[in-house]
Amino acid sequence: MSTVIKNARIITGEQDYTADIFIERDKISTIGMNLPMLADRMIDARGKYVIPGGIDVHTHLDMPFGGTTSSDDFETGTRAAAFGGTTTIIDFAIQARGTTMREALDTWWKKAEGKACSDYGLHMIITDLPDAHLEDMNEMVREGVSSFKLFMAYPGVLMVDDATIFKAMRKTAENGGLICMHAENGSAIDVIVRKAVAEGKKAPIYHGLTRPTTAEAEAVNRAIALAEMAGVPVYIVHLSSNDALERVAQARDKGVLAYAETCPQYLFLSIEDLDRPNFEGAKFVFTPPLREKWHQAKLWEGLKTNSLQVVSTDHCPFCFKEQKELGREDFTKIPNGGPGIENRLQLLYDGGVNKDRISLNRWVELTSTTPAKIFGMYPRKGTIAVGSDADLVIWNPTTEHVISAKTHHMRVDYSMFEGTRVKGNAETVLSRGDIIVDKGQWQGRTGRGQFIKRDAFGGAWK
Ligand code: URP
Ligand code: ZN
Ligand code: ZN
Repeated sequence: MSTVIKNARIITGEQDYTADIFIERDKISTIGMNLPMLADRMIDARGKYVIPGGIDVHTHLDMPFGGTTSSDDFETGTRAAAFGGTTTIIDFAIQARGTTMREALDTWWKKAEGKACSDYGLHMIITDLPDAHLEDMNEMVREGVSSFKLFMAYPGVLMVDDATIFKAMRKTAENGGLICMHAENGSAIDVIVRKAVAEGKKAPIYHGLTRPTTAEAEAVNRAIALAEMAGVPVYIVHLSSNDALERVAQARDKGVLAYAETCPQYLFLSIEDLDRPNFEGAKFVFTPPLREKWHQAKLWEGLKTNSLQVVSTDHCPFCFKEQKELGREDFTKIPNGGPGIENRLQLLYDGGVNKDRISLNRWVELTSTTPAKIFGMYPRKGTIAVGSDADLVIWNPTTEHVISAKTHHMRVDYSMFEGTRVKGNAETVLSRGDIIVDKGQWQGRTGRGQFIKRDAFGGAWK
């Protein structure tokens, strides 16, 4: 099957020009003006942008948490992602304590196999790393799982100590993996949370009030210092506050290989959302928590100045009914996470490009190109070039859309961005040359998504 996209205004992380794109099977084979070759099908992209498929490097599909499981699986999650223009995700396999990384990898492959509608990679969450199992990290990297998430929060469940973090970092110096850090001082937060609960402060707002920005900044600082000592890069996930951002910026100014992502929720929502009446605040319970509104402008500035390099979603959906409701009497029982896999490109385009906060190229860089580079998928993914996978989005900059749980494709009964009006949306989406979304209609096939083996020593090392 061949496809030609005519009159494409091609936007990559670096370029903006008009040409035709010829696709043979799953790859881009030619790019040029007025291509004469005939294809099996033709798409006219006049008046639209053609961008590389979005890459969301932080999702939690079918993830067990707090006695329940995130409500999107690999089928519903990757399909919803595609509707929003995201064609590749990196999800997290979790090595539960007392089990091996190999077992976790096999479990997550089973979750994705026959279900994923578009391509996916996996990070490995390490919760248990005795010296005898350090070599398992090398095995993961050989399998294409070239990044690891470690938690400085959730004591007794996911949190690891500094020695474990440092040992894991030193291992990546050998094997070229990348440590991704959930940076919050979990021990201090635990003390604050216990005191709040003992005082009867159990409403969702206390989730925000018990996790100060200083706890995030301290952990970011410590993670960067440990990485500096180990001589490796570090990637801070879901950065939420200006205090944490300042630590990343200072390290980068010194030439330290520190990278960080933020997520749309931190750019568009604030701690006030946690205080919505009738337990509605539970819809916004995730960690790190939402911050005071003024942090938003600082994060946008960080995206512009490259103190932040990536926007991911941390998509971790739990339905309000029966899942978020588990914590009606006590915020610590609310499953942590929120949905957003479908809305990332729309929100960043409308809030960023339309509002003149970031350029078109920067939008693509933040949502596709840099994620591909940092996580070892470039130039197969993240750009529009001869030889790259034909993961392409035809983006209509004039489409108006109101984000709502009534119309979204995520399997969750609310939207964090309910009622938000955006201009600009994905119209047609190709994944490895297959049209999977066409003018708002699903054309893809469940299970067609492939596991992406990612390179070691990716862009974070350079
Ligand atoms: O609250 C969140 N962010 N849930 C997902 C797990 C994590 O820490 O990323
Ligand atoms: Zn996290
Ligand atoms: Zn997460």
